[in-house]
Amino acid sequence: MKPVKIGIIGLGTVGGGTVNVLKRNAEEIARRAGRQIVITRASAKDLTKQRICDTQGIALTTDPYEIISDPEIEIVLELIGGAGAVKDMVLAAIANHKHVVTANKSLIALHGNEIFAKASEQGVIVAFEAAVAGGIPIIKAIREGLSGNQIQWLAGIINGTGNFILTEMRDKGRDFYDVLAEAQALGYAEADPTFDVEGIDAGHKLTILASIAFGIPLQFDKVYTEGITQVTRADVEYAEQLGYRIKHLGIARKTQEGIELRVHPTLIPERRLIANVNGVMNAIVVKGDAVGPTLYYGAGAGADPTASSVVADVIDVVRALTSDPENRVPHLAFQADALHNIPV
Ligand code: HSE
Repeated sequence: MKPVKIGIIGLGTVGGGTVNVLKRNAEEIARRAGRQIVITRASAKDLTKQRICDTQGIALTTDPYEIISDPEIEIVLELIGGAGAVKDMVLAAIANHKHVVTANKSLIALHGNEIFAKASEQGVIVAFEAAVAGGIPIIKAIREGLSGNQIQWLAGIINGTGNFILTEMRDKGRDFYDVLAEAQALGYAEADPTFDVEGIDAGHKLTILASIAFGIPLQFDKVYTEGITQVTRADVEYAEQLGYRIKHLGIARKTQEGIELRVHPTLIPERRLIANVNGVMNAIVVKGDAVGPTLYYGAGAGADPTASSVVADVIDVVRALTSDPENRVPHLAFQADALHNIPV
């Protein structure tokens, strides 16, 4: 079979990691996808910048629309982040009948309802595993692995930067802003790091998880959002003395009134598994009525872990390319027409 041609918009931490994983594991990926996957084009704002990946063999441009309008490209990877101009790019790619893989949580949380409706109209897939909890395949776990359950609640550490800061404050007594600067240097933090420390990034991710778990529309404006900027070293130390850890959690719970959505720092007894999730790691507990509580753990940010989820989505899309869009099982893109509203 002919190779599948893909284009990447954005060659930063996630884009660079994705190029590396696609090249490094090309043989295994081709075997699993059933076709070879070739990155023919990639765009970046500054082509002179030093990158974490080797772009040999990839035609580079500063204009994402060269990728979006390339008739040979079947899958567009949107790896820039942010919800402004990027929304237009994704909608343009969908209008051009491209499948889209994105790691962009703010885009999905804020505009996903519209994007998925357009994708359904065009018969294309929008896949977004990398948008939540970096390398943990949590979207697949809820949508596929737990699809026979009624989800009762989920709760997790879903911002790696915040967890890294809280861990370093506790273990090494480090200063909040000093650790945040390190998280930025390591490529964990958002372009605007207030999203990490004010709970906005976790709120975006919780919005997405709740939509999949409870079959509700994406409603970021319904999330109670509190960050970790008010947490002091003294708070962390007092919690420790009382046998607790402070963790920043996203919680979604089915109640009689509707789905409760909240993001805030929480005191967790130190014997609990989730209290011992440290550094950039994420962990999410999902409770289903049939399975009971399940726990998912892994790196929540960083180049290769996030690329792991992006590449898994690319493989899923390639596997689905031969299927009839009319009869496609709705496991790659959340189907807007399948939404039913539970008051939040
Ligand atoms: N800034 C995000 C985090 C990146 O730290 O979790 C991964 O979504």
